[in-house]
Amino acid sequence: MASDLIRFPDLKAQEIRRALESAKSGILIGRTRGLPYFLDLDNVINPHIFVCGITGSGKTYLMRNLMLKLAEIRSSTIALIDFTGEYENFVRLIGEKRTCSENFAESLAAKGSGVLYLNLAEERNQKSRVSVADKVLSQVIENMRMRSGDNRKVFVMLDEAWKLLDGSKVLQSLLREGRKYGYGLIFSSQLAEDMDLAMLSNAATIFVFRLQNRQGLRRLAANYGLGNGQVEMIQELGVGSCMVMQSLATGKMELCLVEKVHGIEFEETLMLKTGDKTRFEITKSKLEDAMREVCGEGAASEALHAGEKNGYVDLSVMIAALLDKGTRGRKLLGVLRKLGIDEDALADSFAIAVSSRLKE
Ligand SMILES: Nc1ncnc2c1ncn2[C@@H]1O[C@H](COP(=O)(O)OP(=O)(O)O)[C@@H](O)[C@H]1O
Ligand SMILES: [Mg+2]
Repeated sequence: MASDLIRFPDLKAQEIRRALESAKSGILIGRTRGLPYFLDLDNVINPHIFVCGITGSGKTYLMRNLMLKLAEIRSSTIALIDFTGEYENFVRLIGEKRTCSENFAESLAAKGSGVLYLNLAEERNQKSRVSVADKVLSQVIENMRMRSGDNRKVFVMLDEAWKLLDGSKVLQSLLREGRKYGYGLIFSSQLAEDMDLAMLSNAATIFVFRLQNRQGLRRLAANYGLGNGQVEMIQELGVGSCMVMQSLATGKMELCLVEKVHGIEFEETLMLKTGDKTRFEITKSKLEDAMREVCGEGAASEALHAGEKNGYVDLSVMIAALLDKGTRGRKLLGVLRKLGIDEDALADSFAIAVSSRLKE
């Protein structure tokens, strides 16, 4: 039978029949044994998605692409709550803007398909990030409960930081009641703590990237009936490769290996600012090249690092760092001019940089 051809000896690929069905409404994740793998969220027991794997295994890459495809292809609405600011550039790239926390739940209720983005990186501290996220999610859940008859699919997305909401009821409410209202939670972790393990069983769809933690692997194996060969395979997965496990509405479990998550690559951009004024957008690689031209590899990345925070580069801090390294001001000015930064911004930035150095 043809479907046997795409089956691993002990790791099932999606059956051709299911692959064809899910191709109609599913979203492309990557390839499994040379065939496209489409994620089907219609025939699973709930809409929640859990993504696990060690740092650097490809969780965020997948989440970015899930976000984009769910919004564009499935016309879903994504509520992305970002504790670290790591999604800011991607969100801007796909043409969305950030929303402030006061209007978030209201905007979500009114939004069609697309991404609603809340960046919490600039909150005072972790405690206030948690309290804002908690408040916003409580409002989102309140609105969810009031919805009736609209067929919109909504996904609340939280990368690793959901754990900070440990003491709060919001996640539990979303997981328990979400399905009824068409609300799913997409969340990720390194599967290294008890809390992660406890959350695991709440999601019908689980993406498993490379894992090393024994306890986590043991729990996965027990929950999903994995054999030793499959556990070994998970420990050996390369960056971007994952196993997808789904609890289907039919009561069956489906297990597929995705060779490499397929996504769009994007170039990281930075915003240059001086004081509180945002001045100029530039790709990170272009700025790095320019800095290398003035002062060589090591000093360039140090200077960039000194001025960068959450996708913004404070030009005056970067200039001060470069002057400290002995870079000649005139040369630096010339290179920054060539990037197209306007004269006013340059004058301001140099003035601030020089006066900050004099103060020290
Ligand atoms: N499927 C993929 N294809 C190409 N590059 C990938 C893929 N998955 C991850 N990467 C790259 O690997 C690095 C780590 O991925 P990331 O998603 O940030 O890991 P994690 O969130 O698990 O720590 C990033 O530079 C990312 O661009
Ligand atoms: Mg990540």
